[in-house]
Amino acid sequence: MTNEELLKKAAEAAKNAYCPYSKFNVGAAIEYESGNVYVGCNVENGSYTVGICAERNAMSTAIAMGEKSRLMKVAIYSPNTKLCWPCGACRQWFCEFEQGQGMKIIVEDKDGKPAEFTVDELIPHRFELIP
Ligand code: THU
Repeated sequence: MTNEELLKKAAEAAKNAYCPYSKFNVGAAIEYESGNVYVGCNVENGSYTVGICAERNAMSTAIAMGEKSRLMKVAIYSPNTKLCWPCGACRQWFCEFEQGQGMKIIVEDKDGKPAEFTVDELIPHRFELIP
């Protein structure tokens, strides 16, 4: 799937966000080496801190669906902002599922075009249990 197509899927998922508190919709679409694509949106909670981000929701869904191949692309979209960067917790989750280099994070740039980044670019000094 092209980066544009994946961003479109993320935009669709963002419409389903449950975000009555922040009113900040986020959608994520993630593609695996198998070709499978999963989506997620942010789901907030009255106990604010236990809400979940769109990206981690999508990765959790993929795991629950039994996905075993390599996570290759993560597209993130919000109708509320351009350049919807992933939060720090989501970046750490990308590290968990990045098997070797090559995973790309895609966000929409200021001109509405996909911009692509590596995990290393977004989280250069990551936490590692076994360094
Ligand atoms: N949010 C995401 O879904 N992904 C991120 O990477 C950053 C933030 C959500 C969490 C919350 O529901 C809303 O955006 C405002 O912080």
